[in-house]
Amino acid sequence: MKKTPTRRRAPLFEVRHSRIHGFGVFAARRIRKGTTIIEYLGDRLSHAQADERYEDKDPNDNHTFLFTVDARIVIDAGVNGNEARYVNHGCDPNCESSMRGKRIFIEAIRTIQPGEELAYDYQIQRDSDDAPNVDEVFACRCGAVSCRGSMLEAPKKPRKKPRRAPHRAAGKKKTRPANGRRGAQRREALKARRRR
Ligand SMILES: C[S@@+](CC[C@H](N)C(=O)[O-])C[C@H]1O[C@@H](n2cnc3c(N)ncnc32)[C@H](O)[C@@H]1O
Ligand SMILES: [Zn+2]
Repeated sequence: MKKTPTRRRAPLFEVRHSRIHGFGVFAARRIRKGTTIIEYLGDRLSHAQADERYEDKDPNDNHTFLFTVDARIVIDAGVNGNEARYVNHGCDPNCESSMRGKRIFIEAIRTIQPGEELAYDYQIQRDSDDAPNVDEVFACRCGAVSCRGSMLEAPKKPRKKPRRAPHRAAGKKKTRPANGRRGAQRREALKARRRR
């Protein structure tokens, strides 16, 4: 019997030079909001293995393909990685990274037009032992009007001390904070520390 030819769809994206940095990933056709574009693939390492692999790296070199999944796993897209490693950081991004069962995917958070560069917010985690010039090293060149100037997460605002002990009605149960989900979201959003 004759086979009916199956219609292949054009690829969703292409990799080419970017104005932001090196190579970038660009929509090759319209990508709808909510589309899973690509999985972030590469060697899955422990943090210790990643440290060992890149121990000789210049601390002033911000280039990395490492992506922190959680406190145990780092994906090194520099080894066995795919095109996801070329998605640059943006401060007003059209994509986000999301975790499903310890796998990382890049998803469209709005409809993206053909030719637009894909970007997600790396939110590189700040550490207490960061060098004073860390924001310079990780300077952002995304070009967004709202660019925060750094690929690092925004510095945490110091908590204002209450002027006096806050009142609490006797017998009133302490309720869970309304933003109780933020912990989980943040963990998922530990997008890209290991950028060393
Ligand atoms: C996962 S790679 C992205 C692909 C990279 N453009 C390339 O050609 O290899 C991440 C690295 O790209 C660079 N990069 C990504 N977004 C950037 C941005 N908004 N501003 C400056 N450099 C950026 C940084 O060196 C970062 O460590
Ligand atoms: Zn920016």
